[in-house]
Amino acid sequence: MSVRSCLFLLSYRFRYIIIIILSGSFFFLFNWTSTSISTRTFIKSFITNNLTIQHSLINQTLSQQQFPFTNRTINIKTTRIVRLAVVSAIYNDDYIEGIEVLGYSLRRINIQADLILFYISNRLNQLTLNRCRKAGWYLWSVERINPPRFAIIYQRFHDQYTKLHIWSMIGYDRILYLDADTLVIHDINELLTGTIFEDNQDGLLGAVEDVWQGEIGPNFNAGVLLIRPNMTIFNDMLIKIHNMAAYGSYWAEQGFLNWYFKGSTGRLPLIYNFNNVLAIYHHDIYIRLRDRMKIIHYTAYKPFHITKSNQLSNPALIELWNIWRQMHDDMLNQSFIS
Ligand SMILES: *[C@@H]1O[C@H](CO)[C@@H](O)[C@H](O)[C@H]1NC(C)=O
Ligand SMILES: *[C@@H]1O[C@H](CO)[C@@H](O)[C@H](O)[C@H]1NC(C)=O
Ligand SMILES: *[C@@H]1O[C@H](CO)[C@@H](O)[C@H](O)[C@H]1NC(C)=O
Ligand SMILES: *[C@@H]1O[C@H](CO)[C@@H](O)[C@H](O)[C@H]1NC(C)=O
Ligand SMILES: *[C@@H]1O[C@H](CO)[C@@H](O)[C@H](O)[C@H]1NC(C)=O
Repeated sequence: MSVRSCLFLLSYRFRYIIIIILSGSFFFLFNWTSTSISTRTFIKSFITNNLTIQHSLINQTLSQQQFPFTNRTINIKTTRIVRLAVVSAIYNDDYIEGIEVLGYSLRRINIQADLILFYISNRLNQLTLNRCRKAGWYLWSVERINPPRFAIIYQRFHDQYTKLHIWSMIGYDRILYLDADTLVIHDINELLTGTIFEDNQDGLLGAVEDVWQGEIGPNFNAGVLLIRPNMTIFNDMLIKIHNMAAYGSYWAEQGFLNWYFKGSTGRLPLIYNFNNVLAIYHHDIYIRLRDRMKIIHYTAYKPFHITKSNQLSNPALIELWNIWRQMHDDMLNQSFIS
């Protein structure tokens, strides 16, 4: 054996050992930070102090004044005046068509709410923002709520803690939050103007069971949330999102919200967040509910990233894609979108 190959072997092994040491220390560090946050008060206060700085832009007076509030009277007996909003979010130019069609689908059913769209400035190009405005959304620039340090999160959900901002919109009495990959196909005004929820309840009023592969529940899905804003709850959340040891960070804000509101959340029927994976794993439910579903949630694929139905194999998934496509074509036929 030549000297040269001996040297190569040595250096190769050496590299291997370095990698083991490095990854070992990474996991040690990760475990240490994620499990000890709640017990080490000095770390907790460090994080809390920084959060106060990071979110100092949220000004209670401002959030009571700055949205394009529309006063609405919902209860005919008491003629109580309320302010209602549907909120969605765009963090990426790729989602523009989803947001346009969602906006159209809401105006089509004459939604009784202000339409507010979160975006993170410097992320989107001006053309995207103009198209969102044209689709009926009032644009609201929000600060990104960063995931906890060392969080290990499913790639797609990195920006999703930002949606917690809805709890700070205290000028509104009730907010329906919809992910950008949802579509409203029938009237849902009852969620906003109905009296199925106590007006004095704060926090999360309703959400729909999550569908993960073959399982339905017990967690709820965070793509459709009916909430009542509350600044106390918002500020409390910003601190508790760091308690990853309690909820595990993989599912980002959805994991967090399920932990935070454990046991105190009204469950809405599946038709209000009809997850398209139901078509794959629960065909019986799909058949039973397909004529009644009101909000479709495209989690398995994004309909705006699919141009031909032959990119999908399952007939039910094709049917759901066609519903989006039809809505998209209807939208293009309206004069207010060019
Ligand atoms: C807050 O975090 C920043 C980094 O984002 C860091 O530079 C700063 O020292 C932190 N503040 C405190 C009070 O520790
Ligand atoms: C919050 O915003 C209002 C209205 O712009 C302003 O008058 C007030 O000084 C702000 N408060 C803080 C603490 O920045
Ligand atoms: C909405 O109602 C509030 C009272 O709740 C009132 O002060 C405000 O002027 C109203 N705004 C509009 C645009 O009518
Ligand atoms: C907000 O939520 C907290 C905690 O649930 C509750 O005590 C408080 O009354 C609520 N309302 C306001 C306006 O803070
Ligand atoms: C859009 O309008 C064109 C003609 O203006 C019509 O041919 C087409 O069928 C319409 N599409 C939909 C989805 O209504």
